[in-house]
Amino acid sequence: MSVKEVVLDALRKNSGSFLSGEELSDRLDVSRAAVWKSINTLREEGYIIEAVRNRGYMMQEDTGQITPDSLRSILPPQLRNNDLHVYDCLDSTNLEARRRLLDNSSSPSHGDVIIARQQTAGRGRLGRSFFSPSHGLYMSIIVKPDFSMEKSTLVTLAAAAAVAEAVADVCGLNPEIKWVNDIYCEGRKVCGILTEATTDFESGQIDSLIIGIGLNTSPADFPKEISGTAGRLETEFSQSHLAAHIIEGTLNNVAELSREAVPSFMEAYRKRSMVIGKTITVYKGVYRKDPSREINGIPARAMSIDDSGGLEVMYTDGTREVLTSGEISVRLQQGE
Ligand code: BTN
Repeated sequence: MSVKEVVLDALRKNSGSFLSGEELSDRLDVSRAAVWKSINTLREEGYIIEAVRNRGYMMQEDTGQITPDSLRSILPPQLRNNDLHVYDCLDSTNLEARRRLLDNSSSPSHGDVIIARQQTAGRGRLGRSFFSPSHGLYMSIIVKPDFSMEKSTLVTLAAAAAVAEAVADVCGLNPEIKWVNDIYCEGRKVCGILTEATTDFESGQIDSLIIGIGLNTSPADFPKEISGTAGRLETEFSQSHLAAHIIEGTLNNVAELSREAVPSFMEAYRKRSMVIGKTITVYKGVYRKDPSREINGIPARAMSIDDSGGLEVMYTDGTREVLTSGEISVRLQQGE
């Protein structure tokens, strides 16, 4: 752990009470200057740390509840005016985003965010539902694309790369991305991403994208169908920090789509890929509501992920194909 991480850990364990600079430097065996430098870095990252002469440092207790204010205190200045809506319970944050986009009186802007702590009709990929019990972190980020239609497919990868970085930074875990949109920690799915589009009726063009991100942070037991694969973010962390880092990272990555031919997040995405080089099973168009009905799986080796987000696979007869996400699911084979 870096000095910053050790300081953060000590402050968290003492949150609500003061720790003197001397105590911190003795306890962690680092200089007072190093403690001070770490405190400054943590403050720049949005942690609220009080410093009082002769008493030391105290990290503000995290109530655990995300509120628009807790997010604003962490988000960088350029994102603080975005509309942030936080609900205890919604049917689905993606549906709420869609309703707002279709309602002329609310007209959400690029970068607006809807968060819920629970969903009663969470939507997953391929028409499935997404298990969304209370104390979870479910969010939708609205994107008004100013890039080409072809690049829209990269939006989910932009979000996946941002979520993985945020989970690594804020939760101290080592997340991996399962093509195309699932985040895994220690072999279990902890987050799913579903990007949906609204189209302009007249032009038929995409008018907005809704990036839905669901993180398993609830202590609730998973239903039987997913209990073998689903996992949760187990470490102690601030939900507000995690959400703010995801929002910032996703919007930064999405902005690259209009600036760069090959966005730099693709490199980060590939680095965290859990499929490249592995033997997988490819399911085409058959794996919808009921994952237990997987049929027609084709074994293949995952070779690479191209700049359009396609997964290049090689089948056992040596033929190759680039899979695009649409109606395709991949599974890692046992032991891979
Ligand atoms: C998947 O794993 O199939 C994708 C799951 C996406 C779930 C998120 S939770 C927030 C947003 N609102 C929804 O209804 N779905 C997405």
